[in-house]
Amino acid sequence: MRLAILLSGRGSNFAAIHDAIASGVLQAEIVCVVSNRPGVAGIERASALGLPAFTLDHKGFPSRAAHEESVGKILEEARPDFVVLAGYMRLLSPGFVSRWPNRILNIHPSLLPAFPGVGAQAEALAWGVKIAGCTVHFVDENLDAGPILVQRCVEVLDMDTAETLSARILEQEHLAYVEALQKLARSTVRVQGRRVAFDRSG
Ligand code: GRF
Repeated sequence: MRLAILLSGRGSNFAAIHDAIASGVLQAEIVCVVSNRPGVAGIERASALGLPAFTLDHKGFPSRAAHEESVGKILEEARPDFVVLAGYMRLLSPGFVSRWPNRILNIHPSLLPAFPGVGAQAEALAWGVKIAGCTVHFVDENLDAGPILVQRCVEVLDMDTAETLSARILEQEHLAYVEALQKLARSTVRVQGRRVAFDRSG
């Protein structure tokens, strides 16, 4: 299973996926890592690991379409089975998403459909929910809205701050992303409406 990683920052989800592959827990290969922000920890790690690493600073492009065109070219050359958004802080246009239907994954730090968008952990805390968590989902044309592959939950503690809750959710994100990718590696995925099912193929 060939994976392309898109990221914008620290890249801890990318690191977790890479570690799972390196330790044999996940049968996959990272064929490219693309960042839209220069100098971030995620892309530096990718370079240090010797992976094909590309920085396409969106600020250097005249439009979203022009940036996506360049990202799309890299992806087409890398021929991934799945495009993995790992903290990629940029909306993808419907045209881009439609090029890889049910083949782009995202991770979001809430139990979707609750708390889409940025600041999800702080919003969950402010709302007073007792259970928070994370969601791995396919990307469609709407924000944090596509069919769900895996969710993991986290208990909200009375003394939690946005930082402590985010840190505990992040631990579960790393597990959830690897779990979702393991399922995709081992099974044939079926998407019916919003529902995702996995047929064991081996
Ligand atoms: C994670 O919280 C993820 O859920 C969100 O962005 C953050 C990325 O963290 N989409 P990292 O760059 O993988 O460490």
